[in-house]
Amino acid sequence: MKDGGEEERTRRDEFRVERLFEKDATKVEDLLKEVWSNATEYPEKWRKARAIGRSQIIIEMNTGFHYFGIRLNGKIVGFYKARITKDAYLGEHQSAHPAYRGHGLAKAMYTHFIQFAKETGYKKIRVNILPNQIASVKLMKKFGFKKVMEYEQIPRMLVHLYEKKIEEENTTEELTNES
Ligand SMILES: CC(C)(COP(=O)(O)OP(=O)(O)OC[C@H]1O[C@@H](n2cnc3c(N)ncnc32)[C@H](O)[C@@H]1OP(=O)(O)O)[C@@H](O)C(=O)NCCC(=O)NCCS
Repeated sequence: MKDGGEEERTRRDEFRVERLFEKDATKVEDLLKEVWSNATEYPEKWRKARAIGRSQIIIEMNTGFHYFGIRLNGKIVGFYKARITKDAYLGEHQSAHPAYRGHGLAKAMYTHFIQFAKETGYKKIRVNILPNQIASVKLMKKFGFKKVMEYEQIPRMLVHLYEKKIEEENTTEELTNES
């Protein structure tokens, strides 16, 4: 019989995070509507701005945002996007379908974010977190991110900017192991 930890790992490993493309834009739109209309921890203005539609999603995909997601039962149930900024590779807009929360979708996406950054050679990854978004704060701790700044992302919405340095030694070690 599996202990709780092993069961959780097994479930998490089952979530495959994949790159998303234009053909997925409608499904991403559906997920964002579902998630952000109910994300009441955020000001209404931010919730509306996060529920972007298909055409905006396609514009972003073509202008430097990398879209990633998790597919289950014909839907996209987990999503995040990331882009290169001056200082780091910035992850944004993470969204887990309400019906699938607490099962490790976000953990699978952070595992992917870190691994993708390692493989691509990005040295630093960052995310903005609302301090009262409990799941996100837990994820920062779990994945070893450090708080580097506090600022208003939009007026009266204070966020914490977290950062994680991507370890070069691990990359070398993994490459050595693979060769
Ligand atoms: C934040 C969000 C992506 C988390 O997704 P999720 O798939 O449910 O997260 P996970 O199942 O991977 O859980 C991550 C951790 O948070 C905990 N958690 C999840 N939901 C929680 C809740 N409502 N309250 C407290 N802890 C919670 C989990 O137990 C887990 O911690 P643990 O490893 O110590 O058990 C999801 O709640 C969401 O989409 N929220 C709305 C949009 C949002 O705020 N996105 C973040 C933008 S930065």
